Amino acid sequence: MKDASPQTIYLKDYQPFPFRIERVDLTFRLAPKTTRVISRIAFAPNPERAGRHDLFLHGEKLRLIAARIDGADVPAALLTVTDEGATVAAQALPDGPFLWEAEVEIDPEGNTALEGLYMSGGMYCTQCEAEGFRKITYYPDRPDVMAPFKVRIESDMPVMLSNGNPTASGPGWAEWDDPWPKPSYLFALVAGNLVNLPDSFTTRSGRKVDLNIWVRPGDLDRCAFAMDSLIRSMTWDEEAYGREYDLDVFNIVAVDDFNMGAMENKGLNIFNSKLVLASPETATDLDFERIEGVIAHEYFHNWTGNRITCRDWFQLCLKEGLTVFRDQQFTSAMRSEPVKRIEDVLSLRARQFREDMGPLAHPPRPSSFVEINNFYTATVYEKGAEVIGMLKRLVGDDGYARALDLYFDRHDGDAATIEDWLKVFEDATGRDLSQFKRWYTDAGTPRLSVSEDWRDGTLTLTFTQMTPPTPGQDTKLPRVIPIAVGLLNPNGDEILPTTILEMTEATQSFRFADLASRPVASILRGFSAPVVLEREVPASERAFLLAHDTDPFNRWEAGRALAKDVLVRMVTDDDAPSADYISALGRLLTDDSLDPAFRALCLRLPSEDDLAQTLAEAGRSPDPDRIHTARETLARTVAERLVRPLALTYDAMADRGPFSPDATAAGRRSLRVAALGLLNRIDGGARAQTLFDAAGNMTESAAALACLIEAGRAEAALPAFHERWKGNRLVIDKWFMIQVVHAAPHQAAEVAERLAAHPDFDWRNPNRARSLLGGIAANHAGFHHASGAAYRFYADWLLRLDPVNPQIAARLSTAFETWARYDADRRAMVAAELQRIRSAPGLSRDLSEMTGRILG
Ligand code: PHE
Ligand code: ZN
Repeated sequence: MKDASPQTIYLKDYQPFPFRIERVDLTFRLAPKTTRVISRIAFAPNPERAGRHDLFLHGEKLRLIAARIDGADVPAALLTVTDEGATVAAQALPDGPFLWEAEVEIDPEGNTALEGLYMSGGMYCTQCEAEGFRKITYYPDRPDVMAPFKVRIESDMPVMLSNGNPTASGPGWAEWDDPWPKPSYLFALVAGNLVNLPDSFTTRSGRKVDLNIWVRPGDLDRCAFAMDSLIRSMTWDEEAYGREYDLDVFNIVAVDDFNMGAMENKGLNIFNSKLVLASPETATDLDFERIEGVIAHEYFHNWTGNRITCRDWFQLCLKEGLTVFRDQQFTSAMRSEPVKRIEDVLSLRARQFREDMGPLAHPPRPSSFVEINNFYTATVYEKGAEVIGMLKRLVGDDGYARALDLYFDRHDGDAATIEDWLKVFEDATGRDLSQFKRWYTDAGTPRLSVSEDWRDGTLTLTFTQMTPPTPGQDTKLPRVIPIAVGLLNPNGDEILPTTILEMTEATQSFRFADLASRPVASILRGFSAPVVLEREVPASERAFLLAHDTDPFNRWEAGRALAKDVLVRMVTDDDAPSADYISALGRLLTDDSLDPAFRALCLRLPSEDDLAQTLAEAGRSPDPDRIHTARETLARTVAERLVRPLALTYDAMADRGPFSPDATAAGRRSLRVAALGLLNRIDGGARAQTLFDAAGNMTESAAALACLIEAGRAEAALPAFHERWKGNRLVIDKWFMIQVVHAAPHQAAEVAERLAAHPDFDWRNPNRARSLLGGIAANHAGFHHASGAAYRFYADWLLRLDPVNPQIAARLSTAFETWARYDADRRAMVAAELQRIRSAPGLSRDLSEMTGRILG
């Protein structure tokens, strides 16, 4: 009998494991279909759990060959093995410490879920977070059980790697020793025919660390940027956080088949190859920026995640929120702080606000889950980082630095909780954070409304906060909201520099007295809290802020709000595009005192999904077609009215001299392709064709290809691009993606179907599957086309992917999370597809949980 519906796991049920582990010894005899894993684990009773306990070890898809305790076979009657693990009855265990030995056989080649030990392009590799180690051997696979590991690998592969330091090797074997106690999710092993880019780094206390990036032989010429990013990350973490690296080697391996971006395994980070490999010809500037950020992110986990880990998976944002926050700080230090902030807010709104407003809303620290893999979300990561940003704003830079020092001091070697994290802030700063904690435990995005009162030289700002209900949380208490405010006088001078107002009540007023004339308020500067600011502002005031705000984020935000107002009115009232908005944009475009990257962000119109969300929040059901048409009309009108400055900018921003991936050069290219995207609407693709034919870098080449598709003249470019790049999987991923993202709405499903039948559509590869499916989901008007063809196509593929790789299927299913926004016809079509998925026999726990939650 198949087991009944999957179990829900609750935070409140947490109990420490009844045993501790003193050391772990693993031997791997690698073979594609029959790998032997021999484990020797030294257990001791855990004094925190008095009494005698059965020994439960997780284990899935393992063939158990032998199990011994202190050298003697465990009697069959005292050993119970199920689909989920093995239990040794308490009476088979000695009173004190004992040695568990097990021999199991596993099938890496048959492992298509890419969790545990699997094969990618002929090499062996592992992915253990969150619960993959149990597919390698029997083990208490939970993050609060930490132990030092010794690993011996036997195989005929030339390169064999694991965590920690290499200790010995010979023909056909290698041994590794990781002295730092770690949970099983940080275990890693790699064996393959790999080549390396070597380098080294000396820590400030003088430890020399060998650095290596390991890739497949043809890829060695595209590792230099990743190595450079690693060295800058190691330097920055010493300078900004006083954190040094703690082993003699640091290895990074790039693999082509990987479910996520990358993984912070101790001393042996494993990366999706798209986040390592880059050259100007093959990678866009966005790819370069992501590589830099993710290399940093995984490296920073060494302290925030590995040295201090999570007690249980409910605490995931303890390591992820903090590490995202740190990688954001790093990127701002390497590039432009305001540009990075705008990019982060754009992505927070596009992904996390969308999640928070739909059926999948959950707090940064959830209190229950069915499948933990479904909780690697924008809320845990990006909102987790926002919460830390607020904490820092509230306690100040010094308070933050003291709290972090205390955190590292007090919790090094621990499996910690959000309570531990907040306690170090309380102890270091003397603040009471009990109300602040709601940011961790409550779901939903607060809406913050503001009203202004001006009399007798005093400006009063009155704020009201309201958080709409989310699944399982009907009522919400007020949160602590840091609101950064500045005041400008009517000629644009700043009369009050950025000040943090600390809101704690549902409604609260703040007074600014002794003002000579009525100022203009710049509110929520730097996006000081992840809230939706609801404020009726006349277009003239937005235009004033767009021209004068001294806070670059709010300056951009004013332009953004103007564009959104214009677009919403075009959709709902058939208004013509506003001339004021376009002339304000024109002034900004030609203001050479502004960073080109910033100007590029101002030129980017709000996305169709963003507009759909805005309309839904205003209680209207968004019409994807009308939204698409309005946005196209605005883009075309901007191009017509600003044709001269756009054309001048396009020419002026051309690369001069050799390619550089740095922020300055990338900013110029981003402005150039933003101008191109607009001009393309009126020049029939002429510039795009010239650029496509001549482009020396992927940023311009990919942008030109997208423009040619939109202009309906890509018949020659598409096969040419494919022909040129058919040997490069990462570039071919782009070829798939660009075609579906930029397809006309009524053709999107058809294009996707045609591409799904292409011989290069290797759908078992997560990057390739995501290119096509993620691409169609990103084509808002195409995905939501009234025919329902894209919904059907998408659901068919989720059903096909699920038995092969449930994590990927479940993650992609979030494309449906916004279904309740739309009209009754679309809702009915989506609901039918979701029901069809749910009724499939043998549906994974992953996809079953997701579709169930999405349907609500
Ligand atoms: N812990 C990884 C990171 O954020 C993400 C990840 C999760 C990778 C699960 C693989 C599996 O950096
Ligand atoms: Zn992470």
